[in-house]
Amino acid sequence: MRTEDARPVRLKDYRPPDWLVETVELDVSLDPVATRVRAKLKLTPNPRAGAPAPVVLDGDELNLLALAIDGEPLTAERYTVTPDNLTIPQPPQRPFLLHIETVVDPSANTQLIGIYRSGNTYCTQCEAEGFRRITYFPDRPDVMAVYTTRIEADKTEAPVLLANGNLTASGDLADGRHFAVWHDPYPKPSYLFALVGGNLSSVDDRFVTLSGREVALRIYVEPGKEGRCAYAMDSLKRAMRWDEEVFGREYDLDLFMIVTVADFNMGAMENKGLNIFNDKYVLAGTETATDADFAHIEAIIAHEYFHNWTGNRITCRDWFQLCLKEGLTVFRDQEFSSDQRSRPVKRIADVRLLRAQQFTEDAGPLAHPVRPAVYNEINNFYTATVYEKGAEVVRMLNVLLGRQGFRRGMDLYFARHDGRAATVEDFIQCFADANERDLTQFMHWYSQAGTPEVTVTAAYDAKARALRLDVAQAVPPTPGQASKEPMVIPFVIGLIGRDGHDLPLVRDDGAEVERGVLVLTKPAERFTFSGIGQPPVLSLNRAFSAPVKVVANQSSADLRFLAARDSDPFNRWQAVQTLATSLLIDNVAALRGKRELRHDEGLIAALAAILADPALEPAFIGQALTMPGEADIARDIGHDVDPDAIFVARCELREAISERLHPALHDTYRRMSSREPYRPDAASAGRRALKNVCLDLLAATAESSAIALALHQYETADNMTDRMAALATLSLHERPERAEAIEDFYRRFETDPLVVDKWFSLQAMIPEPGTLARVRSLTAHPAFSFTNPNRLRALIGAFAHANQSQFNRADGAGHAFVADTVLALDQKNPQVAARLLSAFKSWRMLEATRRAHAEAALKRVAAREGLSRDVNDIVSRSLGA
Ligand code: PHE
Ligand code: ZN
Repeated sequence: MRTEDARPVRLKDYRPPDWLVETVELDVSLDPVATRVRAKLKLTPNPRAGAPAPVVLDGDELNLLALAIDGEPLTAERYTVTPDNLTIPQPPQRPFLLHIETVVDPSANTQLIGIYRSGNTYCTQCEAEGFRRITYFPDRPDVMAVYTTRIEADKTEAPVLLANGNLTASGDLADGRHFAVWHDPYPKPSYLFALVGGNLSSVDDRFVTLSGREVALRIYVEPGKEGRCAYAMDSLKRAMRWDEEVFGREYDLDLFMIVTVADFNMGAMENKGLNIFNDKYVLAGTETATDADFAHIEAIIAHEYFHNWTGNRITCRDWFQLCLKEGLTVFRDQEFSSDQRSRPVKRIADVRLLRAQQFTEDAGPLAHPVRPAVYNEINNFYTATVYEKGAEVVRMLNVLLGRQGFRRGMDLYFARHDGRAATVEDFIQCFADANERDLTQFMHWYSQAGTPEVTVTAAYDAKARALRLDVAQAVPPTPGQASKEPMVIPFVIGLIGRDGHDLPLVRDDGAEVERGVLVLTKPAERFTFSGIGQPPVLSLNRAFSAPVKVVANQSSADLRFLAARDSDPFNRWQAVQTLATSLLIDNVAALRGKRELRHDEGLIAALAAILADPALEPAFIGQALTMPGEADIARDIGHDVDPDAIFVARCELREAISERLHPALHDTYRRMSSREPYRPDAASAGRRALKNVCLDLLAATAESSAIALALHQYETADNMTDRMAALATLSLHERPERAEAIEDFYRRFETDPLVVDKWFSLQAMIPEPGTLARVRSLTAHPAFSFTNPNRLRALIGAFAHANQSQFNRADGAGHAFVADTVLALDQKNPQVAARLLSAFKSWRMLEATRRAHAEAALKRVAAREGLSRDVNDIVSRSLGA
């Protein structure tokens, strides 16, 4: 294991590699405990590097068996080797073949990086630095090589043998073994290498590209699960078509394979031609997967597929450029889902996620720029900032340049950098060149951490028929960045007249504001609009055009007007959220000061109007009725946070909505119920979402008829969405029905791991003091597993990340429990342990008692000797100034 002593890696220290690898020939003989890897690397001095250099290859827990140059075994004095490095101080200064033989133990690989076993299947995970756990190699993404992979294995244990590219040979060997040879003609970095061996079944389909090439599509699963791949396969074909139509990108091999495994650290991996997926993001059936699961599958299948162009054909020069592939690919998958589903509802869901995860990260000790300048452990930078804010930055280019200008930039990027390892500068330069724009200032989005705050003050002058907007921006300090430069913020606005129509946006110099985009570039600036015959209502940051926090102090009347009338659906939703947030913040303060709670008739009226608006999509109404989450309220409060008070204030608001809107909620529940057979499409999912939001609100008062309704829905549901939603509603009420339903659910689904995960999560998220004891005892449940990441995340991850009041218990027991788990897990799977530890990312905001408990827990983790680099990095940044 790589332990804490590693030195930080800095972007400014980047140097091109001394040696390139033209071809890699791998010969892998699979064995449960001693897998033998013979690698033949064609090494070439890099013409871009300077003086003659030694060959220094990366390794991690490797055992070297043999080493030769051009067929000549290397004598011991000509190299040095450790499990982490292989150095040849005086290699021939010309192209040569290096033969390396190593052996690894897949069964002992609990980190799930390199070659490991998931059940009986052999599989690999190489991003970011896992290939070095297979053989010694310059394991960095700017070394791109052509790979040929020969795999051999016992034929009964692993009848299916897969690697990247195309199958070029296969056959039987002596002793019941067999082999397959795969060749990938596209040069790629080592992190995109993959191989799989196992007893797998495949579901097969085909896709004909726009230019008429036929591509075979195969999803490999454990035998018996073939019936659960249909939605994933359909999503894949839609994604392939969409990338052709929207970005002009065709698939480039004759075969595209997906393999699903039960043990996986992340969601999925875009290995060239051989994506490896966490079961969770492929397998789905009506009775086992929720609408949210179907939507995730569609998005992640598309995401990994889209990486073929944004990540694989054009890859990253170094890991600082991670957002180059991830932010861009998330943007692409968001756009795909928007086109497949409802654009406004998708935008609302994406912004909810961005705020919950990225804004929170940006507001705490783990804040970092979209492109970090330094890291200790790259695995800790697969974050909401790199992914979600990275996508927002790409989206802002789209807003700034318009759709066509954006497409011109993308086309140039594909033309200029195909087959290469690129940087963020390369990417941005394409948009600048294709549109003759200077994007220098825009680069701050990549280098400055923190969520910008945009403050808007309006003044209307009736005599001059003019509106003056004073707009200020500020980026708060973040670790290592005390002061910031102003950003380029594409701020889309509308001025709405009393009749609900947008007024023309004409600046006082006569220029019309194109597409409503005000481009903010200064700490403070003034915009004056003329020809405004009435005081307008301001619709700000429409469609969330920039990932900023807007401060505008709009009146409750204006917010209600926006909720009812704004032509921008996002801002209708936002207006409701803003009303609710300010009420919740006031009431948290009231609870802590033992004062009377405030009621907001305006908010209730706005919700009633939305519920009654027949023009609105059900999914949108469901989003409007969903109040801000506890973590969001905490972040908006910002300091001295008491999660119990937040929980109570939120419950009170939900009860008030329930009481005041009871008939409408009930009526909507009925109208949204359907007798049609289940279909996972967006419109049906939207109706179910609204129905289930209504159910949950109806039950918020714990009224017995609503509980009975939930129980009835639980018992009679013909799909997982409705069953799970009913169970979640029941889980919030400490009554005998709850225990029975929880038991019943387990009995029904105990043979289905993905559903058992839901069962663990649901219990971990119950916001009651008894939950910690429940979670502890569930760790002793026969179905619990410490080594399966999904299971671990389902129980302890859900407790730490999704149960604010119980993780942050006032007695510190929640913090202590999670810290203990992190310490125990770190021995086995540091990557998953570090991610769990990041649940402490908001600890500094807590009120003093809880903050002290969190600090003590973190210090206890920090004090442990032999911590992994992963956990050591998170804990030291969490505790850092
Ligand atoms: N590159 C993967 C994705 O975003 C994520 C991943 C990272 C998977 C590291 C495994 C390991 O699509
Ligand atoms: Zn990705």
